[in-house]
Amino acid sequence: MRISDAMVSAINDQIKAELDSAYIYLAMSAYFKAEGLDGMASWMKKQYSEEVEHAEKFISYLYERGARVIIPDVAKPKESYADALDVFRTAYAHEQYVTSRIYKLVDLAIEEKDYATQSMLQWFVDEQMEEEDNTGSIVSKLEFLGTDKHGVYTVDRELALR
Ligand SMILES: [Fe+2]
Ligand SMILES: [Fe+2]
Repeated sequence: MRISDAMVSAINDQIKAELDSAYIYLAMSAYFKAEGLDGMASWMKKQYSEEVEHAEKFISYLYERGARVIIPDVAKPKESYADALDVFRTAYAHEQYVTSRIYKLVDLAIEEKDYATQSMLQWFVDEQMEEEDNTGSIVSKLEFLGTDKHGVYTVDRELALR
């Protein structure tokens, strides 16, 4: 069955959202590096690579369906933040936003009875649950330990292990 134009266009928009995410995390990594928080910088760098992989997954899927991929402009990400907690709160809110986007894609795939796309999207539904859990628990840890040097340093050391 041929994939619909609406579905192709929605997936192309999601490719942009994944690449925007990658850029946001790369900028967060650069922010942490400048702050001397190497563990957080490395965690965010890995997050960046994962988002690039997500974009690539959607790209491969469109190729598999014989559809045209549009490589988008990427928005310039924010450069500065109040502190580490501000960064992770922003990342957590961003992941919740991405989850809502994935759910909308699922809605469209269901509406169109596009079972292949629904099946592909299930991986992203599961992945988003994990992404929200990861970023959300870092927010909780920073809130619990406090954003003084000691709390931030403790979390930084832990995140270096990812
Ligand atoms: Fe993603
Ligand atoms: Fe993500």
